[in-house]
Amino acid sequence: MEEIKKKIMLSGIQPSGDLHLGNYLGAVKNWGARAEEFDCYYFMADLHTLTVRQDPKMLRRRSLEQLAQYIACGIDPEKNVLFLQSHVHEHAELGWILNCYTMFGELSRMTQFKDKCAKNADNINGGLFTYPSLMAADILLYQADYVPVGEDQRQHCELTRDIAVRFNNIYGETFKVPEAYVPKAGARVMGLGNPTSKMSKSDPNGCVFLMEKPEDIARKFKRAITDSDTENCVRFDQANKPGVSNLMNIYSAVTGKSFEEIEKEFAGCGYGVFKPAVGDAVIETLRPIREEATRLLNDKAYLCSVYTEGAQKASFIARKTLRKVYKKVGLVEKPF
Ligand code: TYM
Repeated sequence: MEEIKKKIMLSGIQPSGDLHLGNYLGAVKNWGARAEEFDCYYFMADLHTLTVRQDPKMLRRRSLEQLAQYIACGIDPEKNVLFLQSHVHEHAELGWILNCYTMFGELSRMTQFKDKCAKNADNINGGLFTYPSLMAADILLYQADYVPVGEDQRQHCELTRDIAVRFNNIYGETFKVPEAYVPKAGARVMGLGNPTSKMSKSDPNGCVFLMEKPEDIARKFKRAITDSDTENCVRFDQANKPGVSNLMNIYSAVTGKSFEEIEKEFAGCGYGVFKPAVGDAVIETLRPIREEATRLLNDKAYLCSVYTEGAQKASFIARKTLRKVYKKVGLVEKPF
């Protein structure tokens, strides 16, 4: 009987900071449950972090912590391929080739590039600019069908599609053209201190980290900025009530409840009741993750075995695609 090939899902996160609720709700939460349906590849995008100066010790530590957190979030290494991007050298190699098929104008239009330039005015390096070609290589090497990411990565995924189509048009079918897979709830978690900008580690007071203590999470939610309207009622209205709408979005993502259900549940209650309730729901969601990640971090040998096996499996697939690409563009086949 012919073997049914599963579709491929792939994603990565930069280990440049501790994982936060935005990373979890926008990305990781949607990864774990997919292993039966898809062949899944998830990695620590450590090469990407070098576009901004990193403390080498911290980067190494965070890469391992991130792996422990992936597993603690339910991404079973027996069913998913988990690896470090830098361990599979084909990423850098295909990244270079795709640079030559990505236009200056396209890279200049990337929102993340513009944001990062504004934040790192003293280090606007070439890597920051060509970052999306490396991201395209990450995805195209595995012939991924779906890329589960938050809303902010949609633009990079669109560019990946354009690069794949361009390459295929020149050389014939080489890459699968992937699709971004963006969740309905949690795709854009906003900062608790400023609901008009996305939750990010650069604003630690408005950002909830996966490994944070429950009392700190509770405090952050109690202090979350709500709206200055007079109605003090829990109602979804993104334009006029961005603070409450963000909290509803978070509550919906962690409980699975719809906005209508949430409005009913908190009818007649003010923000003073709603904010701690969202905090409690988040604390209970993160508690088992924190406990399991802490346990795994004490077992470095196990983590090492996971990323070693992951890199071997990933390399096997990546090598096949790269060999095909080398041949298509006219490079002489490697003798070893
Ligand atoms: P990164 O490391 O900035 O973010 C990792 C993932 O978390 C999502 N995310 C959010 N989702 C909702 N609300 C937020 N506030 C929030 N903040 C972050 C991001 O959308 C992302 O899914 N370039 C990527 C990493 C990467 C990658 C890849 C992803 C490198 N290669 C290949 C997919 C496939 C990045 O910087 O994500």
